[in-house]
Amino acid sequence: MINIILFGAPGTGKGTQSENIINKYHLVHLSTGDIMREEIKKGTKIGALAKSYIDKGLLVPDSVIFKNLYYRATSHKNPNGFIFDGFPRTINQAEVLDKMLNKKGFPISIVLYLDVTEKESFNRIMYRSQHSGRADDTEDIIWKRIAVYHEQTHPLLEYYKKQQKLIPINGMGTIDEVFALISKEIDKLIN
Ligand code: AP5
Ligand code: MG
Repeated sequence: MINIILFGAPGTGKGTQSENIINKYHLVHLSTGDIMREEIKKGTKIGALAKSYIDKGLLVPDSVIFKNLYYRATSHKNPNGFIFDGFPRTINQAEVLDKMLNKKGFPISIVLYLDVTEKESFNRIMYRSQHSGRADDTEDIIWKRIAVYHEQTHPLLEYYKKQQKLIPINGMGTIDEVFALISKEIDKLIN
């Protein structure tokens, strides 16, 4: 079983490349952002709570994230592995995830870090905002999300570097170019 974290700031292509990865390698996609947006769409209590943070560009509390993620992850029987998209986002989330996976004997295999300039990721989200329908895809909130990433999520790079799991990927190319770089790393892992 392989467990991959697709790491990167907002708009760096985590969702886009996750789709490519699950189609080619048949891993289970776990996007905490998508899970929260589904809850909002369904009109659940959790969705309402998540929305109050997401719409401001702030992180949803860890307890809410974990409960929902755990439920999704354990509903799959004998998966080839997982691709974590937008999770973990804090040191606490990373530590809890490590504990959980190590206990099961399936630790994180690699962390692919999509390296994209701030300007480019901002432009990508602004472009996406024309059709995404995401309430957090507005100019002010995008900058807020980027600032929150720097404060709370960026320190994870050092965390995974220490574990020798961090692999930087140049995320500035076309979608296909970036996916070719990602595939190369996953193939190395499998073979
Ligand atoms: P989340 O849903 O995770 O959003 P994000 O991290 O802000 O990132 P995005 O989904 O906007 O971007 P992406 O990297 O997936 O890029 P994409 O592939 O779409 O989180 C949203 C919110 O939920 C958070 O702010 C927080 O409130 C909450 N949340 C989620 N997880 C949480 C957690 N673990 N803890 C606490 N709170 C949590 O690409 C962007 C655009 O660029 C697309 O239009 C795409 O087509 C285009 N594109 C992609 N690649 C390329 C390329 N190579 N060249 C040109 N265009 C490209
Ligand atoms: Mg995404």
